[in-house]
Amino acid sequence: MPLNAATFDWVRQLVHRESAIVLQPGKEYLVEARLLPVAQKMGLSGVPELVEKVRSRPDPAAMRRIVEALTTNETSWFRDGDPFTALTSTVLPSLVAARGPAERLRIWSAACSSGQEPYTIAMLLQDALPSAATRVQITATDLSSQMVERTRAGRFSQLEVNRGLPAPMLVRHFTRAGSEWEIAPALRRMVTASQANLAAPLAVLGPFDVVYLRNVLIYFDLPTKQAILRRVAKVMRPDGWLFLGAAETTLGVDDSWERVVLGRSSAYRPLKGA
Ligand SMILES: C[S@@+](CC[C@H](N)C(=O)[O-])C[C@H]1O[C@@H](n2cnc3c(N)ncnc32)[C@H](O)[C@@H]1O
Repeated sequence: MPLNAATFDWVRQLVHRESAIVLQPGKEYLVEARLLPVAQKMGLSGVPELVEKVRSRPDPAAMRRIVEALTTNETSWFRDGDPFTALTSTVLPSLVAARGPAERLRIWSAACSSGQEPYTIAMLLQDALPSAATRVQITATDLSSQMVERTRAGRFSQLEVNRGLPAPMLVRHFTRAGSEWEIAPALRRMVTASQANLAAPLAVLGPFDVVYLRNVLIYFDLPTKQAILRRVAKVMRPDGWLFLGAAETTLGVDDSWERVVLGRSSAYRPLKGA
C-alpha cells in the first residue's frame, strides 16, 4: 500500500530542507522502499511508524538516516568516458602549462558517491600523467556520510568493479581484500573525502582547478541549481574547468559560464567578469 499523503509530504519536506533533493508526487513507492530498511533497523514495523516516531520526537540521527536513504548513489568507473579522457588530453596539460612548477593542482569530485569518480581521476592521472599526478590533490565530497566512508575505505565489490573498470586497471591499481577489491594506498592518499552539502554554504573548500559536479544537479529545482553553480564558481580558479553530467548544463540555468567543446564532451569555464 502506498504511503498516505501526510506521511509522504513530511518526508518530502524533510528531504528538501536537508538536501534540496526534490521528491515529486509519484515517488511514494521509492520512499516506502528506501525507508523500510531504516524502519526495520530501528525495530519498527514500517515507514508510517518511523515517520510518526521522528515527527513526534525529533531525532537528528534518525532524520539524517532518512535523508541519506533517499539519495541516489548510482555511479560507475569512467562514467560517460569523455569527461575523464578530456582531463588528461586537454585540461591538465593546459593547467600544468599555466601554473608554476611547484603549484598544487586541485580537483573536486563534488558528489562523489562511493568513490568511483575520484578514483577514476586518480588512476587516469597516475597512468597518463605521472609527473603531474604528484602535484594533484583530489577532494571528494558527498552529502551522505555512508558514501564518504565508502570513498575513504576505497573498497569495492566484484559487481562494482565490473561496472566500467578496464581489467588491466583493476590488476594494476587494486588488490584482493576478501571478497572485495581495495584501491592501492598511493591512489587512496591522493583522495581526501569529507561530507559537504552542496545546498548549503560551502565551508573552507577550494580554490579548485577542476570540478566534477556530475549527475547531481538533476535532483534539484532551478533556484537550487542556480545557487549551487554560483557557489561552485566562488570556489573555482578563474581559469578552472567544470564538468557536469551528460543530462546537465549551465545553459538556461546560470549565464556566468562559457561552454567549451572538448572532443565528444564539453566543459564549462567561468566567464570573465561574471
Ligand atoms: C547519482 S550520484 C552521482 C555520483 C557521481 N558524481 C557520478 O556521476 O557517477 C549523486 C550523488 O549526489 C549526492 N547528493 C545528493 N544531494 C546532495 C547534496 N545536497 N549535496 C551533496 N551531495 C549530494 C548523493 O548522495 C549521491 O551520492
